[in-house]
Amino acid sequence: MAEIGRFIVFEGIDGAGKTTQVELLAKHLRSLGREVSLSAEPTTLESGKAIRRALSGAEKKSECQMAAMFVLDRIAHNIDEEIGIRALTEKGIDVISDRYYYSSLAYQGAATDYGWVKQMNIGSPEIRRPDLCIYLDLLPEQSLERISRGRESVEIYENLEKLTSVRNTFLSVIEDLRAEGESIYIVDANRAPDEIAREIASIVDKHI
Ligand code: TMP
Repeated sequence: MAEIGRFIVFEGIDGAGKTTQVELLAKHLRSLGREVSLSAEPTTLESGKAIRRALSGAEKKSECQMAAMFVLDRIAHNIDEEIGIRALTEKGIDVISDRYYYSSLAYQGAATDYGWVKQMNIGSPEIRRPDLCIYLDLLPEQSLERISRGRESVEIYENLEKLTSVRNTFLSVIEDLRAEGESIYIVDANRAPDEIAREIASIVDKHI
């Protein structure tokens, strides 16, 4: 039987460098002869496009509606027959995702009811737990500086107060899910990308 692929998630507040590190880890895994597929949430599926419209402010949604939309998109991310995590890992392909349910627990968990958001996500039979989560840790001030350097438009979640509260929530989400046995690593993201990538590669090597 073919080996089952691993499902690895990157998390962090905006500007933490997730996109870069996802790519560098993919390069590392491919150099080991593994097949890798990159994904992200919100996804490129219809459910993800609806979230992008809401995030841009084009379609106003309540915080509870947002929490439910992220769950819907996450289920699609799991079960889609072409780009779904289940289908790909069953083929032996590693899937690396930029964001997953940790983001919902941090953002929507803080904005609505943590227990409700957690139950919708962790309790869903169609939302799997990752094999590994890498949390790229950056102070909110460092995050805002990076965001304002690199982008023209700032989305609704990106202000200092919000980033501080989201980071704090992320750290408690990590504690909560570690207590349930999840493998989550906190990596200092305020360093050169290749230095961060080396640390991540050594963590991932122990899990594949
Ligand atoms: P990004 O493409 O920069 O990661 O933007 C996605 C935004 O969506 C980001 O601000 C975080 C937010 N988000 C949530 O609020 N909940 C979620 O479950 C996910 C996946 C993202």
